[in-house]
Amino acid sequence: MPRKKAQFKRKAASPGRKRRIQTLTGMRDILSDDYRYFEWVIRRASEMAEAYGYRQIVTPILEQTQLFERAVGADTDIVEKELFAFKDKGRDYVALRPEMTASMVRSYIQHGMLNLPQPVKLYQYGPCFRHEKPQSGRYRQFFQFDIEALGSSDPGLDAEVIILVFNILKSLGLSPHIQINSIGTPNSRQEYKKLLVKYCRKFRSRICQNCKKRLKKNPLRLLDCKTKQCQSIIEGTPQIIDYLDRESQADFEKVLDYLEESDLAYSLNPKLVRGLDYYTKTTFEIFSADEEEKSTGALVGGGRYDGLAPLLGGRETPGIGWALGLERVVARLKEKKIEPEQEIKYDIFLAQIGEKAKQKSFQLFDELRSQGVRIVNNISKQGLRAQLTLANKYQVQYSLILGQKEIVDNTVIIRDMESGMQEIVACDKIVKEVQKRLK
Ligand code: HAM
Repeated sequence: MPRKKAQFKRKAASPGRKRRIQTLTGMRDILSDDYRYFEWVIRRASEMAEAYGYRQIVTPILEQTQLFERAVGADTDIVEKELFAFKDKGRDYVALRPEMTASMVRSYIQHGMLNLPQPVKLYQYGPCFRHEKPQSGRYRQFFQFDIEALGSSDPGLDAEVIILVFNILKSLGLSPHIQINSIGTPNSRQEYKKLLVKYCRKFRSRICQNCKKRLKKNPLRLLDCKTKQCQSIIEGTPQIIDYLDRESQADFEKVLDYLEESDLAYSLNPKLVRGLDYYTKTTFEIFSADEEEKSTGALVGGGRYDGLAPLLGGRETPGIGWALGLERVVARLKEKKIEPEQEIKYDIFLAQIGEKAKQKSFQLFDELRSQGVRIVNNISKQGLRAQLTLANKYQVQYSLILGQKEIVDNTVIIRDMESGMQEIVACDKIVKEVQKRLK
């Protein structure tokens, strides 16, 4: 008996016997070198969204499953096949968000935002979850940057949201290309759906298994089936654009006029119906112009969803928005060898040599920082040469050097990083001296 106990102990103590735990399939760590890109895209998108009047919100990642069933649609692939849904410990049916629009509209209704001046412009970013087959550009956890403008049906707003994301992508150095369509109102779609089903039924034996189901449940999705056998059939289908109601048609023409006026590269894609049920009228996707034909998918997807709020218990509220996939945008940036802009530009590097100088540097660093000086240091680097190399990498204008002699004399050396000229300044004058030089 005692022997057995000893064996058990040994097993538990040996870490080598345990299987290494890794991330789940389709999920990944974003390491710091990669996160630089994410941070840059988020920063740029946030700055530009704010300039257009959007304000950031944060909604929970976990929501009631029925939010997505009602909004995205119970028969869509996203809800039917890809939702991470489960019963929690309180026996509620909950799901990890597969997208953000449903939560943003829920939040708008829940917090009575219809009483604010309309449109209410919101943005948020964060992880979304879809149990998809992992492949290039498709993850099970991925980041979206999402904007929604709620409370206006003005087609000018459709153009504005598209122009905003187009400009975000352009400012990152990418060459965006818009594909756009209008799928009209649910009423105007009824007639078209009937025609589409009638047409596709003729080829029933040739269409894929998925589309056979779609014929019954969600015929519009036939239009963007990616299988070869279905694509050749879809080529000959009637086009939704020819069956739009008057209002949808007039609105769509205006949206296109605005885009043309702004000189945006777009093409009409009559098959662009999108994979979420809430869309009405304008739908669009944005690709990197040189990547459009590849199967890595759109960088951005969006559209109008004028009928969504009532599905979630709210009043009629028109809305439009888009979501940008951060992984896909970052992948394009890397392919194009576009480096992210450095987050913060520093002006001063504080170097210290020896223990006493290190101690004093904490106080000096904080004093300068609190006076608004953009200062950086690296407390774990010892030698002066290593620290000055780092200062050059940060592209600072000046380095402050605190050595043993300076501690005794109560002074600091200020070094011009371009000319290499050095001067000694009394400690109590250094803040003023730095501020004077940086002016
Ligand atoms: P979505 O087209 O499903 O639209 O997704 C938007 C973007 O998220 C895609 O263009 C893609 O860049 C990225 N994305 C989607 N799924 C994945 C995945 N599995 N892996 C990596 N990236 C992915 C929506 O989500 C709508 N909520 C957009 C919207 C906002 N419509 C109106 N407002």
